[in-house]
Amino acid sequence: DKPLKVAVLGCGSVGSQVVRLLGEQADDLAARVGAPVELVGVGVRRLDAPRDVEVPDGLLTTDATALVTRDDVDLVIEVIGGIEPARSLILAALESGKSVVTANKALLAEDGPTLFEAAEKAGRDLYYEAAVAGAIPILRPLRESLAGDKVTRVLGIVNGTTNFILDKMDTAGSGFAEALEEAQELGYAEADPTADVEGFDAAAKAAILASLAFHSRVTAADVYREGITEVTAADVQSAVEMNSVVKLLAICELKDDAVAVRVHPAMIPRSHPLASVREAYNAVFVESEAAGQLMFYGPGAGGAPTASAVLGDLVTVARNRLADTRGAGESAYADRAVLPMGET
Ligand code: HSE
Repeated sequence: DKPLKVAVLGCGSVGSQVVRLLGEQADDLAARVGAPVELVGVGVRRLDAPRDVEVPDGLLTTDATALVTRDDVDLVIEVIGGIEPARSLILAALESGKSVVTANKALLAEDGPTLFEAAEKAGRDLYYEAAVAGAIPILRPLRESLAGDKVTRVLGIVNGTTNFILDKMDTAGSGFAEALEEAQELGYAEADPTADVEGFDAAAKAAILASLAFHSRVTAADVYREGITEVTAADVQSAVEMNSVVKLLAICELKDDAVAVRVHPAMIPRSHPLASVREAYNAVFVESEAAGQLMFYGPGAGGAPTASAVLGDLVTVARNRLADTRGAGESAYADRAVLPMGET
């Protein structure tokens, strides 16, 4: 069969694992997709930067625009992160008829509707399972498996770095700075860890979760946000005394048919399933009318786990592409009110 040609944008901790898996799993991927999946280019900022993977000769390029608009490319995987140049490159890819898989939570939370409209207009797929909670399959369940139910509340631990820090403060009595450094070394933190510790990363993920859970449009600007920089050892200790634990929670709720979303540190009883989420793990607790309570748990950060979700999307998009169909439309959403920040 005609191979599916893939371009990857970004070769950092996630991108390098995507490139590795595309090579190592080539036979399995071909079997699952029904055609060979061929990596044809990797867009990077610098050709000579140190990388965790050996990129096959001749594939690296600094001209990402040329790469995503190349005639022979079918799928573009964007794992650069941040708003620009990611947004322009995704839009250029869609406009030139490519399907897109992205892990870019910040961009989806800030400007998702622009991307969804571009995908709709181009008649192409845009999938982003890796954008929230790394390897945990949570977006597909919200968008598809639970689409016949009514989700009323989503509670998430969706930032690995802050969970790691709070967990170390809880169990090892570590200081904030020391725990953050450890999380950075393990590759969980954002390039600028302010996005983690101030709750911006969790707020972006909360906006994406709320959009899919409530089939509405929620952006990062709608999310009330408070990070963990003010959480002290004394706070963590008083939680211990109350048989509770401090977690940074993303809380998405439907209230009188309006959506309310917030991210802040919260004390939760040790008996709650979310209290047992340790280290950099993530979990998303979902409440819905018919299904009741569900919990999705797993590695929420790190190169390989995030690459696992990216590759899953690649298989879906590749299958759709070969069958000449599109996946679940992101354009079908309810026009629900979103409560102003903090009014919850
Ligand atoms: N910095 C993020 C985290 C990476 O710590 O969870 C995954 O999005």
